[in-house]
Amino acid sequence: MSLADDLVKKAESRDVLFGIIGLGYVGLPLAVELAKAGYRVLGFDVSERVVEGLNKGVSHVKDISDTQLRDILKTGRFSATTDGSRLREADAISICVPTPLSKFKDPDVSYIVAATETVKKVLRPGQAIILESTTYPGTTREIMLPLLEATGLKVGVDFFLSFSPERVDPGNAVYQTKNTPKVVGGITADCLRVVCALYQPAIDTLVPVSTTEAAELVKLLENTFRSVNIGLANEMAIVCDKLGVDVWEVIDAAATKPFGFMKFTPGPGLGGHCIPIDPHYLAWKMRGLNYKTRFIDLAGELNTEMPVFWVRKVGDALNQLGKAVRGSTVLILGVAYKKDIEDLRESPALDIIRLLEQQGATVSYHDPYVPSFKEDGHAYASVPLTADTVKAADCVMVVTDHSSLDYDLIRTHARCIVDTRNALARTQGR
Ligand SMILES: NC(=O)c1ccc[n+]([C@@H]2O[C@H](COP(=O)([O-])OP(=O)(O)OC[C@H]3O[C@@H](n4cnc5c(N)ncnc54)[C@H](O)[C@@H]3O)[C@@H](O)[C@H]2O)c1
Repeated sequence: MSLADDLVKKAESRDVLFGIIGLGYVGLPLAVELAKAGYRVLGFDVSERVVEGLNKGVSHVKDISDTQLRDILKTGRFSATTDGSRLREADAISICVPTPLSKFKDPDVSYIVAATETVKKVLRPGQAIILESTTYPGTTREIMLPLLEATGLKVGVDFFLSFSPERVDPGNAVYQTKNTPKVVGGITADCLRVVCALYQPAIDTLVPVSTTEAAELVKLLENTFRSVNIGLANEMAIVCDKLGVDVWEVIDAAATKPFGFMKFTPGPGLGGHCIPIDPHYLAWKMRGLNYKTRFIDLAGELNTEMPVFWVRKVGDALNQLGKAVRGSTVLILGVAYKKDIEDLRESPALDIIRLLEQQGATVSYHDPYVPSFKEDGHAYASVPLTADTVKAADCVMVVTDHSSLDYDLIRTHARCIVDTRNALARTQGR
């Protein structure tokens, strides 16, 4: 029996130890799903805080409750470690480490390289390695494969290497790791066969593609599609503002067309670890091939300029009250990058706060999910949302439309409102 057949058989009988490298927003939900499917799971993270918390049943990821984590811990099928050498025990290893941008907006694949080095030290015949981190086409074959084959082991024969992009949407109540179809691509046909067998018990639908490059590009197409369409919605917001037309009315009416239109909405700009970052991975790769990705660049430009547009709207609104931005107080509602989550990464609220402060405003914020944060050496703490805090502000600005905000209270007491999400109109009379 080949090592591939052996792994497929092990997967069928759930006699597999799954290693997960990186236990964040992506790695932890995947670990929980694999353990629920009956696999034993060993999570490895460089953060002692994360590992300690998880082993005590304390989840740092909102989509995984402490109860869910404790249920898995009780089965004895999940544990976490900071000891990378223990991954030698694993039959399969999924890599879920960050892929940020460098200061110059180039891909930073150093976490992927570090995780691959960890795997390289423990690689043995009969292991499957799966990269989950979003990255540019070619990463799995050009960066990971040579490092792993430097051990003398051969891909498709001794070990199996694949790419399978994670599609988790934090805060999504309907689609989670298990019921979101999962794309998989292998370096060889046996790599693909093995990864399908391994993930099949934990994921409802697998979508095999022919190469790792195709799988890498699927994820970038999905996120570029969002960035470009949000860019178009943001441009419509600017167009409508200049024409004196309500952009939300236009979008809602257009969305009644039952075919050929997909609704995207404008807002304060992009945030999170995916949409503002991933398209740059593709743009960078294509620059190296002498091709300029124009849609990506234009959408990036439009979306990045939205905080400036909205700060100008605050200036206009204050002007109506006979006030200047300098010396005014602005209460920001919601600083997380999207509603009902606690993630601040790349949040446009941070740009908005910086721009308002640069213009001399005094800024406070309320966010039920973000009690405090630090930015540019300043420490900020969420103020309570009360009639008094709302009345005290010269301008209230809705940046993130969390469902639990008391919009009636804001409507009743705010002296002036700038609503980047149309949240007040949407919740009127709710
Ligand atoms: N967050 C999302 O919504 C989302 C959705 C789809 C895809 N992704 C992609 O998934 C990947 C992971 O994102 P995330 O949001 O889970 O990141 P995260 O920051 O939440 O988690 C990453 C974890 O990896 C750990 N880590 C870093 N380097 C490590 C190493 N060398 N060895 C072991 N552990 C290491 C960190 O300590 C952290 O706990 C990224 O490529 C991201 O683009 C994220």
